[in-house]
Amino acid sequence: VRRIGVGLLGLGTVGTGVFKTLESNRDVIVKRTGLWFEVRGILVRDTGKQRRVAGIQSLLTTRFERLLEQKVEVVLEAIGGVEPARTYVERALVAGCHVVTANKELIAKHGVELERLARQKGVQLLYEASVGGGIPILGSVRHLLKSNRIHRFSAILNGTTNYILTKMESEQVSFAQALADAQGRGYAEADPSADVDGVDAAYKLAILGRLAFETTIPPAEISCRGIRDIALSELALARLLGYRIKLLALGVQYGEKGPISLQVGPTLLPLSHPLARIEGVHNAVRLEGDVVQDVMLVGHGAGEKPTASAMAEDLCNVFLLPGDRQDSLAAATLLPPDAGGSRFL
Ligand code: NAP
Ligand code: HSE
Repeated sequence: VRRIGVGLLGLGTVGTGVFKTLESNRDVIVKRTGLWFEVRGILVRDTGKQRRVAGIQSLLTTRFERLLEQKVEVVLEAIGGVEPARTYVERALVAGCHVVTANKELIAKHGVELERLARQKGVQLLYEASVGGGIPILGSVRHLLKSNRIHRFSAILNGTTNYILTKMESEQVSFAQALADAQGRGYAEADPSADVDGVDAAYKLAILGRLAFETTIPPAEISCRGIRDIALSELALARLLGYRIKLLALGVQYGEKGPISLQVGPTLLPLSHPLARIEGVHNAVRLEGDVVQDVMLVGHGAGEKPTASAMAEDLCNVFLLPGDRQDSLAAATLLPPDAGGSRFL
């Protein structure tokens, strides 16, 4: 068994889930991978806060440098936002550590340069948890659809908003009540306006679109509308007419190397549409490729356990699939950025 030192950034919903998973599923991980992950330090804002895991007080710190002093080989980032997460990720990569992150905003805005830095340093930057919670969507696109030209995907990429819409429709609760419930379950972002205004889904669409269409996608190029102003009466009327309202993320490429359309917005879907049946915190991605035709992946899109699952899988894959990952990343990210926004409709 190989022991690997891990530094954990953040001990909120996701950080706690990852820590607990590495403890509770250590036997499975060791049996399947021969790897024993040992968390040697945890960066938080407030070391005095009550935590949901016992016996970790001595691991907590507010100083990032302390983590790197603990001989860690890999850093797990679950802080969120651009700064200071970006600085910590850069410093970890420069120090020769692999990084696994759940941070879609960081990857959507700065993923390309961070991946370049990782390659220069001969380490890996993985971010499966940043899109679709527990659904292994990025891995599926990277590893399982290499021979396809993906020309379209439609997806539900935000668990909070799908949970809100489902709860409003099925239980007749207000938007505010449904949002408070989603927050209580740990689904929402620290600032939930990112969820309800469609911005979180747009970050995920940018990441997924970059892999699927092999081009850099600035999140600002994505047309984006949220669900804040959807009323109970509109959900009921849609249902009466045979539709459901879903916050849909859509990516379409018109012809090989043709223009790309990316948008997030509330959309009427006929009840027979497979995405109309996605309930609660579930996310789903429907990919269309020239050979595979269509594939749909469904799973929990947010929350402690599904997100921890995605991060723990990445953590194992850092040590199990090094060459394979590097090649895939290179293909998707080392293309020059497009000139202007002309490729984006
Ligand atoms: P969270 O519950 O708010 O936890 C954030 C953690 O980061 C807290 O432990 C906090 O410390 C720490 N932190 C924040 N700012 C910090 C700073 N400046 N320095 C040191 N520590 C800092 O957030 P979360 O829901 O776990 O989300 C974390 C990341 O995962 C985000 O990027 C989010 O988008 C992503 N994500 C979340 C989910 C989900 O379902 N929640 C799913 C997928 C991806 P304290 O505990 O001391 O306050
Ligand atoms: N706030 C996000 C969501 C977390 O609700 O989908 C998962 O990325």
